[in-house]
Amino acid sequence: MRYLWQMLAALAVLAALSGGAVVTLGLYNVSARVGHLPGVSWVLHTAFRNSVRLRAERPPQLPDLNDPALIELGARHYDWACRACHAAPGVAQSPTMAAMVPPPPHIETAVQGWQPHHLHWITANGIKMTGMPQWPAARDDEVWPVVAFLTAVQDGMTGAAYAALTRLPDGPAPQAYCRGCHTPALGTHVPPLAGQGAAYLRMSLRAYLDGSRASGIMAQAVSRPSPAELDALATWFAQQPAPTHAPPPTPAPLIAQGRALAHAATADPDVPACAACHGPNASESAAETPTLVGLPPAYIRQQLLLWRDGARGGGSRAHLMRVAAQNLSDADITALTAYYTTLETNGTGPENE
Ligand code: HEC
Ligand code: HEC
Ligand code: HEC
Repeated sequence: MRYLWQMLAALAVLAALSGGAVVTLGLYNVSARVGHLPGVSWVLHTAFRNSVRLRAERPPQLPDLNDPALIELGARHYDWACRACHAAPGVAQSPTMAAMVPPPPHIETAVQGWQPHHLHWITANGIKMTGMPQWPAARDDEVWPVVAFLTAVQDGMTGAAYAALTRLPDGPAPQAYCRGCHTPALGTHVPPLAGQGAAYLRMSLRAYLDGSRASGIMAQAVSRPSPAELDALATWFAQQPAPTHAPPPTPAPLIAQGRALAHAATADPDVPACAACHGPNASESAAETPTLVGLPPAYIRQQLLLWRDGARGGGSRAHLMRVAAQNLSDADITALTAYYTTLETNGTGPENE
């Protein structure tokens, strides 16, 4: 028995030494041209598919993946973040990308055989040792628009449909690129920028750039213009006329509940009620305080969830907002969202309620 243990120990030392030699002497050929040993690609790919199926959890309720605005938002992000590797419907893959090991499959192939929650898991987590990146921010909620786009590709999206979805609006660059998403057509998912002050917009763009405000979609978008162009964009968007705002129909008792919460004192004596900063008739509003008038309900709700859960950052006043939201229940957030989406002005005029 003792002899057996000695043998095993000697073998382990030998294996470690030869492993060390392969690493330190460069004996392993990393050339992609040589590829994997026979069978290794199959093992890795099968392990990947089974790993996704084991780990991806189906959420109790999926967002509406047929919503055209959700699909378009996903397509516009895909076009700038994923297309370089996976090409696009009706477009051939670049020979250089196809020469990766393993090669990124063309998107029409990549989506086959997966359900929406699998596609969500792959896009959020990425795949180790393949070049498939993880989502560049801890924001699983933001991945759904891309999943909506991927399921539309599964349903046979044509090249012409893809080109129409990702076409930039007329007008000078770089504004046209931003306006592709920040348009009333995507207004249920993307916040309007006209109506916000330049200081808030500038601060927000910097916060996306340095990662203090987490968003994989906006992190990708702000990487395109130069920092000087970003400042100019903030000024330009702040000067545009605010879109006309038609509040959605909302039950009156819910609005009343939200109004009461918006005027109620917070648990922290240093942090006033929402209304003191966001109006109506704000008394403590600073240049970096956004207006909430005209923001889409889904956006307000999602941002309040992020604030409450400590997942949203921003500029030098973000800590106040985090304190203001920290004790909100889901029901409070629903009521506050109803109140602020039906508010028609937060100016200093007569209270509009
Ligand atoms: C740098 C290149 C690269 C980028 C950028 C990239 N991917 Fe991938 N992706 C890959 C590679 C390589 C694989 C193949 C992994 C494998 O076969 O094991 C892959 C696999 C996938 C798969 C699974 C395909 C299958 O074999 O079943 C999906 C779905 C996918 N990517 C979607 C996306 C989406 C959506 C984005 C953008 C958010 C994206 N990818 C960005 C390289 C990339
Ligand atoms: C692919 C779609 C897309 C593109 C392109 C895009 N955005 Fe955004 N933008 C979004 C989404 C989605 C959000 C909400 C992100 C979040 O949850 O923080 C957002 C948020 C913002 C905000 C924060 C607004 C607020 O009320 O806090 C600013 C500012 C902004 N974008 C500016 C820009 C500028 C400038 C450009 C062009 C360089 C741009 N965006 C391009 C989708 C996009
Ligand atoms: C002390 C002032 C202050 C108070 C009180 C306050 N906020 Fe804010 N709020 C801000 C500031 C400043 C920001 C922007 C922070 C940043 O991005 O750095 C903000 C951001 C927000 C946003 C995100 C808007 C966007 O365009 O992304 C929402 C929604 C919001 N607040 C709702 C509320 C609600 C609801 C309350 C009450 C529970 C509240 N706020 C209390 C100052 C305040």
